[in-house]
Amino acid sequence: MNLVGRSVLDIPQLSRDEILFLLDNARKVKSAFKKGSGPLAPLGVKSAALLFFEPSTRTRTSFEMACFRLGLRVLNLAPAESSQSKGETIFDTARNIEALSPDVMIIRHQGSGVPEQVAKIVKCPVINAGDGFHAHPTQALLDAFTIAEDFGGKFEGLRVLIVGDIAHSRVARSNIHCLRTLGARITVCGPRTLIPPFPEELGVEATDKLDQALPEHDVIMLLRMQIERQNSFQVPSLREYTTRFGIDEERMSKMKAKSILMHPGPVNRGTEVTSSVLRDPRSRVLTQVENGVAMRTTLLASVLGVGVV
Ligand code: CP
Repeated sequence: MNLVGRSVLDIPQLSRDEILFLLDNARKVKSAFKKGSGPLAPLGVKSAALLFFEPSTRTRTSFEMACFRLGLRVLNLAPAESSQSKGETIFDTARNIEALSPDVMIIRHQGSGVPEQVAKIVKCPVINAGDGFHAHPTQALLDAFTIAEDFGGKFEGLRVLIVGDIAHSRVARSNIHCLRTLGARITVCGPRTLIPPFPEELGVEATDKLDQALPEHDVIMLLRMQIERQNSFQVPSLREYTTRFGIDEERMSKMKAKSILMHPGPVNRGTEVTSSVLRDPRSRVLTQVENGVAMRTTLLASVLGVGVV
């Protein structure tokens, strides 16, 4: 599998075999972590530049932890303290960071397509850490890894229900591509205003009947309600959304005993999910965060051409 030197901007760029290779290696990397291995590769001479122009807790810290695990030096750009505040464009910023010779750039940006545009003008590989409404490929890979752990790596016929703001979710888009490539069957669920108008074009089924759908699916993947967008009136109110699409203990009791509940974070407690549901043994919310380190370590090692397992 040759990911060496390649940018990772969106899931459709990866073949099924490449995704399976990453899942298999993430499993081995996680196992090495559990055994207490130190830096998996002595990459102290190499460096990763993290350019996060949008807030992040999980993605940023897990990429940093992955760099630490690989012995990579991290160059962290703090946009608020950078010359972006003086009007420098993202593309000039990227060109200037490139002049410092990082071996890889990891970019999150509120503009859909920005990492792809940067990848066209810099020589080092670029990893998309989430761009606008477009894509979040490393989230989809770590989610697939988390599902693989519970279902023995078998995706064929697995039924995944993605609940929430599908229309504006980069997590949903990347997960749909990734899980369909692996053979899962996807249903999206939410208010009609938050479901793409032609779900069949994405290869998914759609429903707004959460209570009927819950017992029929193996994986329930909740999306964050983008509360900062609510002044655009895409749902009548968050309270109404929670009544119809929030997961509480009663709804959790409708899930199969062996199904799992996922959420990419950040969680809006009391909106998408209650606190008690997060404590349920079927919740994988923190496992997803843990698995993000193994998957991002695997991906960085693959792009930088070092074996870690
Ligand atoms: N899942 C995710 O992308 O979370 P952050 O925004 O905290 O990185």
